[in-house]
Amino acid sequence: MKPKPDGHNDRELRVKRITNGTVIDHITAGQALNVLRILGIMDRLEEVVSVVMNVSDRKKDIVKIEGRELKPEEVDKIALISPDATINIIRDYEVVEKHRVILPSRIEGVVRCINPNCITNTDEPVKPKFVISRGERVELHCMYCGRVIADRIADFLI
Ligand SMILES: Nc1ncnc2c1ncn2[C@@H]1O[C@H](COP(=O)(O)OP(=O)(O)OP(=O)(O)O)[C@@H](O)[C@H]1O
Ligand SMILES: [Mg+2]
Ligand SMILES: [Zn+2]
Repeated sequence: MKPKPDGHNDRELRVKRITNGTVIDHITAGQALNVLRILGIMDRLEEVVSVVMNVSDRKKDIVKIEGRELKPEEVDKIALISPDATINIIRDYEVVEKHRVILPSRIEGVVRCINPNCITNTDEPVKPKFVISRGERVELHCMYCGRVIADRIADFLI
């Protein structure tokens, strides 16, 4: 492919830089759409968002949102599905703050249990609680029934 004068080629889509907002970088490959779900982007179609999936060698995704900073509870959910993500705050085109998300060792009331018979899925007033472990992937261990959620954590977010 013939390079354009400024060095890029037709395979690259140049996305406009954002002026003020948030770049969520180093998202686990394949999780960008789940990040959008967590942020409720699908319900707020007026927002200016760009999504870069499978950057370079399919190693990571990136989500960029103009004019918005994330709430702590949104960042906490992103940590569960993408524990290496960084949250970069952009002001006047520059990264002014960068935080890595923090994966907690326990969570309560954030994810429901995958086991339909778990006490947390009955009428009993018991909040779902999980112990979190992280090896190659994040695993949530239900503190009531012992079931493990690993592959589809985003589907069980409350
Ligand atoms: N104004 C902007 N608009 C859109 N994206 C931006 C803007 N400024 C920075 N970014 C993106 O935000 C991310 C973090 O920017 P930074 O300059 O800190 O990159 P970096 O040094 O590669 O960071 P890291 O070491 O965390 O990978 C990068 O993906 C970068 O492309
Ligand atoms: Mg980088
Ligand atoms: Zn359970």
